[in-house]
Amino acid sequence: MKLKVLTFSILSASLWTSQAFAANHWVTIHANLQDRGAVINKDIYGQFAEHLGHGIYGGLWVGHDSDIPNTKGFRNDVVQALRDIKVPLLRWPGGCFADQYHWRDGIGPQADRPITINSNWGGVDETNAVGTHEFFDLADLIGADTYINGNLGTGSAQEMADWIEYMTSDSDSALANQRRANGRREPWNITYFGIGNEAWGCGGNMGPEQYVGLYDQYRSAIQAPAAKDILFVGSGGTTEDTAWTDVLSDQIHNGMDGISFHFYTLPNDDWDNKGSATEFDNTMWFNTLARTYRMKTYLKDNIDILDRNDPSGQLGFYVDEWGTWYDTEEGREPGFLYQQNTLRDAVVAAVNLNLFHEYAKRVHMTNIAQMVNVLQAMILTDGAKMVKTPTYYIYDMYKVFQDAKSIPFTLDTTQYSMNGKELPAVTASLAQGTDGRLYMALVNLDPEKDANIDLDLNGEINTILAGRILTASTITAKNTFDDQHAIEPQPFQDWADYFVLPAKSVVVLTLK
Ligand code: AHR
Repeated sequence: MKLKVLTFSILSASLWTSQAFAANHWVTIHANLQDRGAVINKDIYGQFAEHLGHGIYGGLWVGHDSDIPNTKGFRNDVVQALRDIKVPLLRWPGGCFADQYHWRDGIGPQADRPITINSNWGGVDETNAVGTHEFFDLADLIGADTYINGNLGTGSAQEMADWIEYMTSDSDSALANQRRANGRREPWNITYFGIGNEAWGCGGNMGPEQYVGLYDQYRSAIQAPAAKDILFVGSGGTTEDTAWTDVLSDQIHNGMDGISFHFYTLPNDDWDNKGSATEFDNTMWFNTLARTYRMKTYLKDNIDILDRNDPSGQLGFYVDEWGTWYDTEEGREPGFLYQQNTLRDAVVAAVNLNLFHEYAKRVHMTNIAQMVNVLQAMILTDGAKMVKTPTYYIYDMYKVFQDAKSIPFTLDTTQYSMNGKELPAVTASLAQGTDGRLYMALVNLDPEKDANIDLDLNGEINTILAGRILTASTITAKNTFDDQHAIEPQPFQDWADYFVLPAKSVVVLTLK
C-alpha cells in the first residue's frame, strides 16, 4: 500500500500533465518493503585525517595551551561537529604521509619529539605533536573506531610489528610497558590496519606482484595476539586499473580482510588542470558528476573480480580514499590541498554514498578525503573560526543509513544529458535504519530540471514522517567564514500535496 503517495498521485494527476510537470524528469521507484538486502556497514561513513596542510595541525589539533577551547589539545568546536555526524571510523596518519611515518617519532614527552620533514606535503616541519596517543585521544573524543595505516614504503616489517604490539599488547613486554610509561595502561583497539598505501605510487612505485611478496612478509611479522581482531587492508589500485584487486585477491592467502581502492573526482579529468572548486558553469557541473559516476563502473569491475577470486565473499572492497580534488586556490600553498566546497560537492557525496549502499555487500568501508581543511572536507577552519561545508550536511542527513539494512529497489529515470553524454537524472537509497524506520535518499543531479517522483512501494507506508532537503538557488552555493549558513538542510514539505524533487537537490525522507 502507498497511502500518501497514492493520495498524491490522485490529487496531483492534473498537475502531472501540466506543462511544468511534463518538462520535468520522470522517476519511478519500485520496491517491496518487506525485502532486505545487505547491511550498509557504518564504516562506509569513515573519514580520513592525514598529516597534510591544516588537516590536523590547526584544523583538529591546536595544542593544550591554545586560546581556542580544546580538550586534550583538540579543538572543541570541530570535535563537537564531528560527533554530531557520528563519524564511525577515522583513518590516520596517511595517505602518502603514512609511508614516511616512523611511529617512534610520535610518542613520549612532546618536547622530546623530533622535528621531521613532511616531504610529501609542502616540505614543512612535522613537529610530531600528534602521534599515536593523541590519535587515539581524538578517535575517543569524536567516538570513532580506528584505522591506522602502516609504513611499508620506508619502514620495516619489524617496525610495523612493533607498532602494533605497542598499541595492542596487554602483556608485560617492553613495548607494552613503554606504552604504559607514556600514559596509556590499557591496550587500544584497532579496527583496521593498512599494510602500506598506494604502493603503485608514493608508497613504493611497485607493481602488484612485488607488493604481494611484501604484504606476506610484513603481515607474517605481525604476531601480537591482539592482532587477531584487526581487519588487515591490502593496498590496492585506483581508477580503471583492476590488476591490483585481481592479483591481491588471487595471491594473498595470509591474513588479508579487504583490498583498498582510491578514486578522486577531477572535473577536467586532468591532474595538471583539475578545475576550480568554486567557479564553474553547468557544463563543468555535468562533467564533475559524469566523472564521479565512474565510481559505479569501478565498483562493479573490481567486485566482479572479487566474486570470481573470492566466491565465499570474505574480502571487503574498501574505497579508503575518495572525493573531489580541485586546483589550488590563488595564494594558497599548493601542497596543502585546501579547497572550498559547494552544492556540487554535496551532490557528489550523495551520489557516491548511494553507490556504496548499492554495493554494500562488498563495500564495507570507505573514507572520504579528507575530514578537515583538505580536499572534500566536512569542515573548514581559519584560526578560531569554523564552518561546516555542504558535504558535512550530506553526512549529517545520511547518518541514518549507518548499519541500516538496505531494501532492494529498481529505479526508472529519464536521463540528464549534455553534449551527447548521459547520466541518470536521479539516484537513490532505500533502507531500514537501526531504529526500525524506513529511510529513502534521493539525489537530483540535474541543475535545471525538477524530477517527478512516483513511489511504487509494496508495503505498509502510512505517511512520510519527516524530510530534509539540501539545495540552493545557485550551483556554486557555499558556506564561508562570513556567511556560515548560506547552504544548510531545510525541512522538505512538498511531499504533502505532490512529490517533486527539485533540481540540484538531495533529500532524505523518513518513511513509516
Ligand atoms: O588524500 C591526499 C593523497 O591522495 C593521499 O596522501 C594519497 O594516498 C593520495 O594520492
